[in-house]
Amino acid sequence: MRFIYVVLINLIIFQFITLLHAQDFDFFYFAQQWNPASCDSKIKCCYPTNGKPAEDFGIHGLWPNYFNGSFPKSCNKNVRYDETQISDLISSMQKNWPTLSCPSNNGTRFWSHEWKKHGTCSLSMLDIHSYFQAALALKEKVNLLQILKNEGIQPNGGFYNLEAIKKAIEKGIGHTIGVECNIDLNGNSQLYEVYVCVDKSGSNIIDCPIIPETKICNEIVEFAVFGSRNILDEGHAYSL
Ligand SMILES: *[C@@H]1O[C@H](CO)[C@@H](O)[C@H](O)[C@H]1NC(C)=O
Ligand SMILES: *[C@@H]1O[C@H](CO)[C@@H](O)[C@H](O)[C@H]1NC(C)=O
Repeated sequence: MRFIYVVLINLIIFQFITLLHAQDFDFFYFAQQWNPASCDSKIKCCYPTNGKPAEDFGIHGLWPNYFNGSFPKSCNKNVRYDETQISDLISSMQKNWPTLSCPSNNGTRFWSHEWKKHGTCSLSMLDIHSYFQAALALKEKVNLLQILKNEGIQPNGGFYNLEAIKKAIEKGIGHTIGVECNIDLNGNSQLYEVYVCVDKSGSNIIDCPIIPETKICNEIVEFAVFGSRNILDEGHAYSL
């Protein structure tokens, strides 16, 4: 009798753990956006108040995801975005995680949005400081621009075969990835975002368990430069 009790209680505990687990996540997408392509035909963009971002990839976010392709969001409203806890990371975030949204601002809105929508869903693995630190460490580990340059793919406003871009990155990091495009002012498909997959620890790159459903790229895509897009700076439209 007692044995059965123990088995039953163990079963209940096991069920409970499985339940908790179901609300967790399976892996991360580490999304980097090509800064000059953030300004597409529909979305105007503004340089952040601390200056024009580098002609480089910038972090978009570190997003908990499920193997089935869906993702948890806004998981814990009680764990707020507290910038005092990441003050040592802000200067690196300004450089590597620039906001391009309008009106021109200091980035806090972008980072707190990312924290509330995505960061609060990986609290079982990363607290707020480790979350932002993990994203910055990944940016340093995955130097997409260098990887592409090594294969002769330069950001010069030229057009490249999408497969060549994908192959170059997959060769550079040794894992499969996802790529997203958007449409520039002239109606061209342009390289916009690269998704690298990362295990739950937030530090090891893995093959993407599922390629994100994203806006499709053309076979030939533009690798844009800053300028000639609809960039707003402090509210004034640039006409380049
Ligand atoms: C995907 O998996 C998660 C976690 O296992 C589950 O909560 C969610 O309902 C699933 N979504 C779909 C669309 O199957
Ligand atoms: C950004 O500006 C807001 C006020 O608009 C301020 O609370 C916040 O501390 C600023 N953050 C940084 C990183 O400068």
